[in-house]
Order: sequence, then C-alpha cells, then structure tokens
Amino acid sequence: AKAHEMIHVERVGLNGNVGLIKLNRPKALNALCGQLMSELRVALREFDDDDKIGAIILTGNEKAFAAGADIKEMINKDFASTYSGRFLEEWTAVSDTRKPVIAVVNGYALGGGCELAMMCDIIYAGENAFFGQPEINIGTIPGAGGSQRLTRAVGKSLSMEMNLTGNRIDAKQALTSGLVSKVYPTDEVVNKAIELGEKIAAQSPLIVAMCKEAVNSAYEMTLREGLHFERRLFHNTFATKDRKEGMSAFAEKRKPTWTSS
Ligand code: CAA
Repeated sequence: AKAHEMIHVERVGLNGNVGLIKLNRPKALNALCGQLMSELRVALREFDDDDKIGAIILTGNEKAFAAGADIKEMINKDFASTYSGRFLEEWTAVSDTRKPVIAVVNGYALGGGCELAMMCDIIYAGENAFFGQPEINIGTIPGAGGSQRLTRAVGKSLSMEMNLTGNRIDAKQALTSGLVSKVYPTDEVVNKAIELGEKIAAQSPLIVAMCKEAVNSAYEMTLREGLHFERRLFHNTFATKDRKEGMSAFAEKRKPTWTSS
C-alpha cells in the first residue's frame, strides 16, 4: 500500500509551518479502519518530529469528519481477538502527540469520529457538524473515550443522553456545551483553523509543548496536584532562553525571536 492512501498530508499556512492531515476515505464517510488509523499515526508522528511544524490540523471532508470505527471490520471480531490484538489501543497515539492538534469537524463526527476529534486539543466545527456516540445502536459502547472525554467536556447529563441513545448534537449545541471552541461556516472553518495553527506556530515550540502538557494535566490530576505541576512547569520556563527572550522583547517593545531553547 502507498504511504498515504487513506489520508492527504500537506503543509499549509504562510510559512508552511502548519501540518494538515485530511482523512480521505470519502466513500465510507471516513470510517476509521485499521489502515487509516495506522497511516494517521505515521503522519502525526512525522509532523510531531518535524521542527518546521508548529501545529497540526486534522480534518475530513464537508460531509464527514469520520462516521466512526469501521463497523464492517468489526463484525466478526470476538473478545479474545480484540483483547489480544489490543484493538483500538493504537488510537492513543493521537492524544500522545506533543504538538497541538486542532480537529476541524464538518458533517458527521460519530462514534470513533467524535472520539478522534476529542483526542485533539482544540475542536473547531463547521455549521453542518454533528457529534454523537451511536455505538449503543449497534450493540456496543464507545471504546476510544466517548464515555470519558465526552463526559468531561459536556457534563454527565448530556453525555449520558448521547451515549445511552445515540442522540446527536449539532454544532450550535456543541459550542454551548463546551465540546468545541468555535463554529464557522463550513467552507471557512479549515482556513480559520489554519489561522489558529499559524498563531500557535508563531509561539515558542518549546513553551507551547509545556503549556499543552500543563492543560492536559487538568484531566489527569486532582486540583492540588495539577496546580503544583503547573507551578513547577512555570518555574521550568525560567530555565529557558525563550522565557528570557519573551519578557525582554516585551520590555524593549519588539517582537521576540524564539529559539526553542
Ligand atoms: N463503518 C463502516 N462503514 C461505514 C460507517 C462505519 N462506521 N459509516 C458509514 N459507512 C459506510 C456505509 O456502510 C456506506 O457504505 P456502502 O456505500 O458501501 O453501503 C457509506 O459509508 C455511506 O454511508 P450511508 O449510505 O449510511 O450514508 P448516509 O448518508 O445514509 O448515513 C450515517 C450516514 C448516518 C453517518 C450512517 O452512515 C451511519 O449511521 N454510520 C454509522 C455510524 C456509527 O454507528 N458509528 C459508530 C461506529 S462504532 C465505533 O466507532 C466504536 C468506537 O467507539 C471506536
């Protein structure tokens, strides 16, 4: 198989410092089969390791971000094979990416598609976006964060409703419930995300990575532990040249030049 058969990968933004990954399995509404997920993992890793890239965008097409894990691939699996084969475990690579990943959701983000978007750091939605966890309708439950990340994002009542019934929410409700940070017209949302990616890519990559780690710790730690971890990371920024440069540039009324050191 070609390196990228089910995804498109390009560099975008004025300085080419934003990596764009487009899921490209339109006939199956970007159903997340094993091959697609493994191509995605490789592409994310390549951008993550590339010094020229400061932020990554993950999107689908105007009809679907992704309609879930590939149901046809799952039909004949049994417990032993999913357990031994660590089914879906490789998906965690998405949330292990160190650089900020922005999901741009147009159309369906269902099941694994919604979970994939929630593994990203920021979600922008097009006006036609729908989010849902319809696994219950096919006799299973979410396996990649739908019962966990969704609950933390939108709260128990809405998450329970979505998980127990498959009821979808639209872009507007996703915005008011805190699942996404912005909604834009469908044909503009990718460009808005690129602008956001460029803004992030213009910061110190070193400090951006530390900042992402700090925010993510809010999901994993108690408040006391999280505040402690944040303060330590904050102190750590004082061991960097970029911290000194940033504050000096402010005082000297000039733009900072980051060296990621
Ligand atoms: N897996 C495999 N194929 C899928 C798919 C999926 N999740 N979603 C859509 N497709 C395929 C359809 O089978 C169809 O293929 P054919 O043309 O070969 O029949 C093609 O994509 C187009 O789909 P539809 O004809 O169904 O399109 P539609 O516009 O009528 O409906 C839809 C769109 C409502 C999204 C509908 O496709 C649908 O309900 N999809 C399944 C959604 C779902 O249940 N997702 C959860 C999957 S389980 C999961 O994700 C587990 C986990 O937690 C990781």
